[in-house]
Amino acid sequence: MNGYLLIPAAGSGRRMGADRNKLLLPLLGEPILAWTLKAAIATPGVCWLGIMVHPQDRADITAIVAALHPEVPVELIEGGATRQASVWAGVQALPQGADSVLIHDGARCLATPNLFHRCWADLATTPALIAAVPVKDTIKEVVNQKIVHTPARDRLWAAQTPQGFHVPLLRAAHQQSLENGWEVTDDAALLERMGHEVAIVIGEETNLKITTPADLAIATLILQSRL
Ligand code: C5P
Repeated sequence: MNGYLLIPAAGSGRRMGADRNKLLLPLLGEPILAWTLKAAIATPGVCWLGIMVHPQDRADITAIVAALHPEVPVELIEGGATRQASVWAGVQALPQGADSVLIHDGARCLATPNLFHRCWADLATTPALIAAVPVKDTIKEVVNQKIVHTPARDRLWAAQTPQGFHVPLLRAAHQQSLENGWEVTDDAALLERMGHEVAIVIGEETNLKITTPADLAIATLILQSRL
């Protein structure tokens, strides 16, 4: 298995209320991003990691990577103004020979090697996939603080990362989105707009994305229970 992985890590700490990239904030004594990278590096079959970074974080992220002593090449790639732009920068920096790739948000620091492994394994036969879990809450569509729609819960899944793609397909999707000015929050949405099927890999309930201080508190508890 050739496990190529792109990690968008070029965001900010706005929703966290932090004045710097939230991925550099400490979680049980280590930066959030270090936990994400540790799980990725520990996955059998991983062969290359690209991390999309903001120029101002390059020194910090270089130090985080160095402290992990990875046995696979790790490249730092300059990210863009949006997650979508950062992923596109990463896709363009993939080594020759990367036929398929997983994309995993740096902010999802609780994903396990088992999840990475299952996604890479399915990519052998599936051109586009995402990790997702069924939603537990009833979801309401709201406009101006009024409910306009209640979708049937048994069809709703919460999208996570990793999301995995065959590289020519992902390239085509990003190129088409640049031409058409599509703005999306994940890569699967680009494929959906192209009318392409995207398969689900059963995700992990604990695979939360660190967005607010409450997420950080929950992540601390989950990691403590694992240690
Ligand atoms: O902000 P949010 O947590 O939704 O971002 C998801 C992931 O995308 C994060 O890991 C973040 O660092 C990354 N990102 C990026 N480039 C941006 C914005 C976000 O790589 N311009």
